[in-house]
Amino acid sequence: MERKTPLISQEDLRRQEEISDYIKGWWQSQGVTPVAYVETYGCQQNEADSEQIRGILERCGYGLTDQAEGADLIVINTCAIREHAAQRVFGNVGALVHTKRRHPGQKIFVCGCMMGKPEISERMKKSYPHVDGIFSPHHLWQLPEHLYRVLIRHRKAYAVEDSDGAIAEGLPVVRTNTIKAWVSIMYGCNNFCSYCIVPYVRGRERSRLPEDILAECRDLIAKGYKEITLLGQNVNSYGKDLGLGVDFADLLGQIAELDGDFILRFMTSHPRDASHKLFDTMASHDKIAKQFHLPFQSGNDRILKAMNRHYDRAQYLSLIEYGRKLMPEIVFTSDVIVGFPGETEEEFEDTVSLIEQVRYEALFTFIYSPRPGTPAAELPDPTPKEEKNRRFDRLLAVQNAISEEKHKALVGKTLRVLVDGKDGDKLTARTDGGRLVRLDGEDDLIGQFITVTITDATTWSLVGALTPLGKRMDAVTLRPAAREDLRTLWEMQIEAFSGLLEKYRDYETNPGAEPFEKVLARFEQPWTVYYFIMAGDRPVGVIRIVDKKDGSRKRIAPIFIMPEHRNNGFAQAAIRAAEQIHGPRHWSLDTILQEPGNLHLYEKMGYRRTGQIERINDRMDIVFYEKD
Ligand code: 5AD
Ligand code: SF4
Repeated sequence: MERKTPLISQEDLRRQEEISDYIKGWWQSQGVTPVAYVETYGCQQNEADSEQIRGILERCGYGLTDQAEGADLIVINTCAIREHAAQRVFGNVGALVHTKRRHPGQKIFVCGCMMGKPEISERMKKSYPHVDGIFSPHHLWQLPEHLYRVLIRHRKAYAVEDSDGAIAEGLPVVRTNTIKAWVSIMYGCNNFCSYCIVPYVRGRERSRLPEDILAECRDLIAKGYKEITLLGQNVNSYGKDLGLGVDFADLLGQIAELDGDFILRFMTSHPRDASHKLFDTMASHDKIAKQFHLPFQSGNDRILKAMNRHYDRAQYLSLIEYGRKLMPEIVFTSDVIVGFPGETEEEFEDTVSLIEQVRYEALFTFIYSPRPGTPAAELPDPTPKEEKNRRFDRLLAVQNAISEEKHKALVGKTLRVLVDGKDGDKLTARTDGGRLVRLDGEDDLIGQFITVTITDATTWSLVGALTPLGKRMDAVTLRPAAREDLRTLWEMQIEAFSGLLEKYRDYETNPGAEPFEKVLARFEQPWTVYYFIMAGDRPVGVIRIVDKKDGSRKRIAPIFIMPEHRNNGFAQAAIRAAEQIHGPRHWSLDTILQEPGNLHLYEKMGYRRTGQIERINDRMDIVFYEKD
């Protein structure tokens, strides 16, 4: 199949860069450093667009400010998804007339999804003469040109014509966060859910090339980003337009295989296109967060049909079931609409029962909002507003109770989190499943994966405490085990494998099920040494070194880290300590499978694959590494 989505040509992009440089020079010649204020409404996709807007503006010589007052340029990036958001935009843009009066040179641009609807952009143009520029998402990449028109030519800029929405690669970006990054992998949507405006304002689905996405992710990881979220209106149909034979699961897997310590998320998924393959890929990569945002919108089949969703309740539930069977720890979240035109009380109850059946971690609940131009806006809608509000409140109450129960069940558990910022005097962090954790701790933990014990929970968030050794340890010592220590060591080994037995089920040398006699017999071997891995004076794990002098034996060194200390970098630190005692050596991959995210540990530490692979069974290979 021919690739349908054209890229915007290098030549066109270069032209925009030249205009940017011109504008920058123009400002310099006035002896002014202009500042721009960018305000974003709506979803993460819009936030990602705003990061490009900021990037382009910076190239044009603008500094960034977080206040509209006094800014030389204001850009309002709008959302069209519900009427309420649209009304707010009209109100806020209207109010800017005063700001502009106080700062006459100020220029105002309005862009984003609302401007993708001709009736709305037309209304904006007519009602608000103080707005200098209007452009739809398709025309974002030409922002320098729009600015030029307004600043230098003293004209209005108006770019809202529909287009196929070619993709502009390599636009500059100013990211607002240094730990988490959002990467758009595709744009637009082909689904035409009957209530939704998105396909009309963002155009047809078009995917970025896998190599461009991989390059961006590689760059982000190299810059130290710890969380990457892949964005698209419907990520599951990624690649369909490319004809390269690469689907979303393939792309996700490829990114998850990149070296580095990071966690990978994605949104949003349409249940129609969410494949078993995608769940399989999630399950087989530790770096992919076990979190799935899977909007169901309604629990009733008639409504789902009227929404043009192309799946029914049973199909949706079977997806959830498949995901949970594969990954018992998976966290599901969802979107739901109440009060779709004609929704009856019984049909609404089906939605409630679906929520009770699935028990989501969190839910984004919306009251149906008619969007002119969509098929659903034409449907009769006899249900009074008060009744819709009542249904909405009921849904919230049901979900809040579930969220709280789910959160409370985590109290006492030890979880790996990524510390991502600060809120007041507390650090904020997210679990693998995306749950918010608040905790006390030093600022230098921001940007690190740490382990916390959950001490309390509310509907919205968890309270965590740093585990005593929660902070990543760079140095551990190895203490050789004596004969009288062996029973303790054996018990630690078994405990270290708790929860992992399932993964190792068919592994005949499953160390978590090893009899004590085996440990004892190994201890007698002259080439075997058992060590306790010590962090300070606390044992956090066990390591076995096999070092037969004549080289007749593979030098495998299993490492067992206690469950509460996993993911703190102890495996890595233990390898370093062992290297100091025994020199570089062969390691086998199975030894660190316990630590999610460590699959690339050896390569990170300068080891290379020997090419030797030992097949244990059809689910497990031991891969051997060495370092000279
Ligand atoms: N009215 C209410 N909610 C809507 N959504 C999309 N369109 C509408 C609408 N017209 C909700 C859907 C979607 C989420 C992003 O917003 O639940 O998944
Ligand atoms: Fe995002 Fe849709 Fe709103 Fe556009 S209309 S900002 S795509 S939610």
